[in-house]
Amino acid sequence: MGMKNIAVLCSGGDSPGMNAAIRAVVRTGHGHGLKVYGIHKGFDGLIHSKFKEMDLSSVGNIIQRGGTILGSSRCPEFHEKETRKTAAQILKAKKINGLVIIGGNGSFNGAMALWKEHKIPVIGIPGTIDNDVSGTDYTIGFDTASQTAVEAVDKIRDTALSHERTFLVEVMGRKSASLALNVAICSGAENVVVSSQYDLEQIVKRNKLGRKRGKKSSIIIVAESDTPGLSYKIQEELLLSHDIKAGVCILGHIQRGGTPTVYDRVVATKMGHLAVESLIEANFPVVTVLKNGKVTLSPLEKCLKNRKASLKEKLDLIQALSI
Ligand code: F6P
Repeated sequence: MGMKNIAVLCSGGDSPGMNAAIRAVVRTGHGHGLKVYGIHKGFDGLIHSKFKEMDLSSVGNIIQRGGTILGSSRCPEFHEKETRKTAAQILKAKKINGLVIIGGNGSFNGAMALWKEHKIPVIGIPGTIDNDVSGTDYTIGFDTASQTAVEAVDKIRDTALSHERTFLVEVMGRKSASLALNVAICSGAENVVVSSQYDLEQIVKRNKLGRKRGKKSSIIIVAESDTPGLSYKIQEELLLSHDIKAGVCILGHIQRGGTPTVYDRVVATKMGHLAVESLIEANFPVVTVLKNGKVTLSPLEKCLKNRKASLKEKLDLIQALSI
């Protein structure tokens, strides 16, 4: 049976560029004569039958907007087999024979279960600011989130300089330190903390060395890692054991919003287009990935885990330059 009706949803934390991907999915689908449905608020909307047919103009004027016009959610119920059975029944009743899922690891695990248990043709598009999906060098939103965080740190640097202060700036990323490392490189940070197993003495040593050679401010980028709010612990330790007074700024959800960068729009558009082409060619379950600068496809199986990006190269670079 040829592909006739497809649906698209966003799942997990939203990321800038998701709208560009939705637009590409809808317009490519229409270009091939398909009916395209948008599912409101991810897997939660799927199991509650929240579908809306999307015409060409439904995705007009959204490429430049952050967030997702479809809404997103985290759906713990989807971990249950019965819930996934309901989802598959709904998709089959609506005669949807292709599902595009824009999200991260958790969303792709849900996609895999739908394929394995119910043979729903699924395609994943990696969208998360964390850049932590295995099988792809890039996830949509990472560039914009990095830019937003760097702009914030630049502003903090201004006041840090004026008052000769040290600041701990905490960035998102969950278990991945990708965002923290990117932000540290681009903001010229003096220190970066990539996990809750940090070396306080090293941080202090670098802080003091900088001050000694005349630096008037110091920025420590902290990856939230598995302990959001970690910066407060470091702040206390710096004060109690070394009498270093540091300010704390937790950037939080500001990093998930805003106008997507050109890079995110391009990658998202290419991925959305390729996702539909792949469904039409009956090539699933796969994920659109960026590999060596090219948007291509990878088996879904390979993209289910958290990517363990090597930290060393970027850490070495930060250390070499923040002297
Ligand atoms: O996965 C994206 C992300 O923004 C992480 O960086 C962060 O830890 C998490 O989502 C926050 O999730 P929520 O918005 O559900 O609190």
